[in-house]
Order: sequence, then C-alpha cells, then structure tokens
Amino acid sequence: MSSSVSPRSPLIPGFSKILHGGDYNPDQWLHAPEVIDEDFRLMAVSGCNTFTLGVFAWTSYEREEGVFDFGWLDRIFERMAEHGHKVILATPSGAKPAWMSRKYPEIRRVNAAGLREPHWHRHNHCWSSPVYREKVGAINTQLAARYGRHPALAMWHVSNELGNDSLDGQCFCPLCLGEWRLWLERRYETLENLNRSWWASFWSHEFTEWEQIDPRDWSMDSLSVDWLRFRNWQIQDWYEFEAETLRPLSPGIPVSTNFMGVHPWIDYAALARKVDFVMDDQYPAYEIDDPGLIRSAAAVSFKDSLYRCFKPDRPWMLVESCPDAPQWKERMRPKPEAVHQLEMLQALGHGAEGTCYFQWRKGRGSREKLHGAVVDHSGREDARVFRSVTALSRNYERLAPVLGSTPQRAGVGLVYDWEARWGMEFSEGAARGGHAYETVAGQHYFAFWEQSIPVDVFPSEGDFSAYRMLILPQLWMLKPGVARRLEAFVEQGGILVATSYLGVCDESNLCFNGGWPGDGLMKLFGLWNEEYDTLPGGETIEIVPARGNALGLTGSLTATSLCGILRDVEAEVVATYGSGMFVGTPAITVRRHGQGEAWYVGPRLDAEALGAFYRPLARRLGLEKAWDGELPPGISAQRRLGDGEDYVFLENFTPRSQTIALGGRRVRDLLTGGMLSDALILPSAGSTVLAVPSSY
Ligand code: GLA
Ligand code: ZN
Repeated sequence: MSSSVSPRSPLIPGFSKILHGGDYNPDQWLHAPEVIDEDFRLMAVSGCNTFTLGVFAWTSYEREEGVFDFGWLDRIFERMAEHGHKVILATPSGAKPAWMSRKYPEIRRVNAAGLREPHWHRHNHCWSSPVYREKVGAINTQLAARYGRHPALAMWHVSNELGNDSLDGQCFCPLCLGEWRLWLERRYETLENLNRSWWASFWSHEFTEWEQIDPRDWSMDSLSVDWLRFRNWQIQDWYEFEAETLRPLSPGIPVSTNFMGVHPWIDYAALARKVDFVMDDQYPAYEIDDPGLIRSAAAVSFKDSLYRCFKPDRPWMLVESCPDAPQWKERMRPKPEAVHQLEMLQALGHGAEGTCYFQWRKGRGSREKLHGAVVDHSGREDARVFRSVTALSRNYERLAPVLGSTPQRAGVGLVYDWEARWGMEFSEGAARGGHAYETVAGQHYFAFWEQSIPVDVFPSEGDFSAYRMLILPQLWMLKPGVARRLEAFVEQGGILVATSYLGVCDESNLCFNGGWPGDGLMKLFGLWNEEYDTLPGGETIEIVPARGNALGLTGSLTATSLCGILRDVEAEVVATYGSGMFVGTPAITVRRHGQGEAWYVGPRLDAEALGAFYRPLARRLGLEKAWDGELPPGISAQRRLGDGEDYVFLENFTPRSQTIALGGRRVRDLLTGGMLSDALILPSAGSTVLAVPSSY
C-alpha cells in the first residue's frame, strides 16, 4: 500500500474528533427548561459533541411576519460553546410557518391536478415563489448575521433533504411552469430543436409555442428526462440561493445540505459540486438474522463508495441516522449495540468522519414521536439505546487515529449515472422483469465488495484515466464525448467492461440509429447488439464458457432477466448462450484494442456468475484489496490510508462469530488497544478497526 498519503483536513478545522451527536430541537421544549438543562447534562454523559439546531424551527423565531426573536437560540448557542460542543445550524426553509402559508398562498405547492395544497406537512414549498425566497433570504440573513461567527458554529445545513417529495408531489404552479419553459428555452433555444430532441412528431406532440409544454405529459420520455433535469436545476439553484445568504456573513464556515443516499431522482453527483462537503441521511436498520443482510450491507457500501467519490479530498459525514428503529420502517426492531456500531463504522470505513442521529431526544408528539433517538421518553441515562450511544462515543475516542486518513485508492471505477438511469427507466419496455438500473449496478459492485476490492463509483462525466478497470453497468445514455473517452481509456491500456443496454440512447434519450452500442462503440467492442431478450421474472438462461476462454471459465453460468443478442462479432467469444432462442450465439466477448481490452457482457449474469467473471480479471490486474488475506463470506473490509499506518475496518455481517486469520503479522486493534498476530475473532455483527503497517 502507499506510504505517503497527504492527510485530509478535518470536517471542522481544529476539531480533531469524530463528529457524533444529532438533531437537537430545544425549540420543541421551550416550555420545559428543566428538560433542556437535563439535555446538556446528558450530552456530556453521552460523549456526543455535535448538534444540528433549527432544522424546522421557523415559527420559534418569527411568530409574526418580520418580528424576530432569537433569544432561545442565543442561550442554546452559549451553552453549546460552554460545553465545547459544535453546532451545525440549519436554515429553517424545510417547513414554512402557517401564517405565511395563509398570507401568501403562492408559497404552497400546486399539485399535478392543478390544486393548491393546504398548509400541511413539510418540504412542500414552491421552489419558484419570489415571496418564499424573500422570506427565506430574510430569516437566513438574520441567522447568519447573528451566529455566522459564533465560536460554536461549525457548519451550515441548508434547509432539509432538498427535493424530499414524491414525483407527483412536485409543484406545477404557473411560476414553476414559467421557470420550466425558461429553462427549456435556455437549453434548446428554438422549438424546432426541442421538438427534434423529444421526437415530438410522435402522436402529433409537436409544440408551436413554449406555453404548450406541460411537464405532466409522461407519454414523452425525453420530456420526462428533461423535467428531472429541470427539477435538479431547481434544487441546485435553491441550494445556491440559500448558501449565498449565509456565506458573506459567515466567512470560512462550510455550507452543505443533507443528501438522501442513492435517491432515484436527485442527481447528487451534480449537487455535490455545489456543497463545501457532503453529508448524508441514512437508515440501514440491519437485522442480523436477515438472510439478505449481506446484500443490504453491500448496497450501503455502494452508496458510501459513491459518496466518498463526490469530493475525494474531503471527508463526508452521516448527519442523520438512527441509534434505534425509525418509526417509518415496516419492522421496528430494537437495534442492538453491535448493529448500531456496525452501521456507523461502515460509513467511517468509507471515508466519513462523523455520524450523527436523527434525533437527540424523542418529542412527545406528532409524526415522529416514536422514532428512535439518543434520549427516549424515559429520559434515563441507563436506557439501553442511550448506553449504546455512549459506548460508541468511547469507541470513537479510540478511533481518533483514523481522522485525516484517506480512503484506499480504487483500481476499479464503476459508472453510475443518474441521467442514464432516468433515460432507461422512463423508456417504456426497458425496465421489464424487475430490471432496475441501480440493482444491476449494485450486482456488479457486489462482485468486488465480497472480495474486499475497493470500487469508486461516479457518473459518466468522471475521469476514467485513474482506473485500470472501468465498469459500465447499463450505460443506457451516452452523453456527448463519453464514447470517445471510453475509446481512449481502452487504447491506453484500460480494461473496459460494458453490459447490455450500453449506448442505447443519446442524451436526449433518442435511440442511436445504426445499431447498438451507439455513438461509434460497435467498433470498439467489435459487435452489434442487435436485439434484447427480456425474460419473464424468475426465468433463467444458461451461459456456456468457450473452451480455452481468456478467463479460464468452466462449467456453466446463469443469467436472468435481460440478454443482449450479439451479431457481427469481431471479438473473442468468451461464452455463448446455452439455452433459449439464441442458443449457440456469443454472450460474452472481448476485443483487444490499443493496449487495453473491451469486454461486453450480453446477458445479465447472476451474482455467482458475476463473481466468476470478475475474479480472474481482478487477479490478472493484481487489484489491491483492503485486506490481503482470505476473509469469510459476509466479512467486509475497507481500508483508509494513514501516515505510516493504515486502518482496516472489518465488519461481520453474519449471524455467526467469524475468525480472521492474521498469519502471524502484528496488528493493533484500535478498539481494544491490544496487539494481535494470530487471529481476530469478530462476533456476530461485530466490527473493529485494525491499525496495520502501510506495507501490510
Ligand atoms: C430524515 C429527515 C428528518 C426525519 C428523519 C426520520 O432524515 O431529515 O427530519 O424526518 O428522516 O427518519
Ligand atoms: Zn411552484
């Protein structure tokens, strides 16, 4: 492993602790000051150090238009400073005051049926309303002027879960429709361009005036893709607007907003470019006896790998998670202490340097009163969950050496592209048989995760040149320039692995003419993917490795749901279809080009087959693992590179105790402080971090 890695600067300058704490809502307890006093006592007992304030606190600052009172927050800030705690201050725009909704109806969303919503819920303001902007600007400016330089202030948290509304929960008011048309005019300039890009002559949908274009026409998938692009523009534009209300009054304090994992509609790769650091809300709620746990854990690692690539030079943080069960989970099982630590260490292993909770204390009423929290209704410090959080704080002190270390550099890149996903999933007929974009990407990722090989995950705009292997699961949409960059990648020695649904459409979601994969890529792979065979759910197809194939594959492999039918193959045939209508035709191929190789996987291989496919390639490339030795199935390893020593996060996602052989090499268990050289025993749901020499 690398020995000279420059340390990353901490999330909070000068604060060398793993951030641990949660959303704190004293605004709900102003009538009960003794509870707030008790909170500060319990915070000290818990070892927590970071608290998010004010997420939905608007009415507690401005009960009447233009009349502000920040007295309670002044006192909380002072107490935070006295205790040496750090504050993440949220802007309150995630929920609007009732007086505002009544006085300015335009701030309330208009639903898809054209009806203005009543004042209810949260995250439901109109993004385009100048009144809402003005009101948010005013309150944010007050907050920034008052607290922007406060010694306890560590970060700004813009609004809450921007875009956390359902697709049909979006605003279709005249203001938003007006913004949408302006956005289209900027993108297309002329209606002629737009009509062509959307294939609008189909069903006589050609538009002759911008005002005719209604985003609710789901029959045009190119329109729908653009509507999501527009929605993302709205979210980014809103974020930037809010961030700009804070920055001038709060120099040097980083600004961000809480993301929501791999959200299907929010292009976080794009939003990540706007924030100063990345923070995420994530609620894995693992159940250790769940037979699907390993898959669920890998899916979280997939998300974490995406997150650590958003801003590779900065740590990220889990800003909301839960030490117990969230009330919205179907099964609300008490979370054991080991599972709690397992979930949190997983984020740290992937480069996070803070894990906080929703929420510090359970409120007595309303929608989330049963949501897990650090302090429950009993208020007792001997409550099981409180003790679990306290124990984690102690362990975080032991993990301090990890701060500043960098996630291991991955030799494998995997392209996950939100716009490609929308293009594929909006194209009727493409996503049949449970054939989801994210699932397939996750299956390819899993083949490496189970071998402890780190994978970077990023969209098709990413820099391919840093990787030895690049994987394109269903890169349906090829944006301009991507095909040429893929060719260059192979030319220069890269191993490119593409699957079915590569290059079906261009960035307008129009099918490429002239054969798939489009935009000139048939030549790179030496084939024409003439057709697709979409199998009904549960049906499988056999894949037969060719004799003496380049991977040394033997026996037979299994594929499900989607098979690309390949013609005009001028590439080495690695495997053929062993059953179905296209039996005997090529299924997996490789074409050598320049210094590299272009692999094409026609069938959707199942997990076992993907493992068999990738293992020999990974071995041949000598891809670095997070852990050199053998690991039992269900043990995951993530490595962070430090100065002279590395930190290997080992986690047991199985219901059994597992033994990891150390082969006589001396390592330090950061949690126990003990030296080990023989074996590490991880109990069921156990997790720890080993400090190992960088050369290990
Ligand atoms: C998200 C929100 C919080 C809360 C939790 C509940 O993280 O940001 O306000 O609703 O979900 O799990
Ligand atoms: Zn609107």
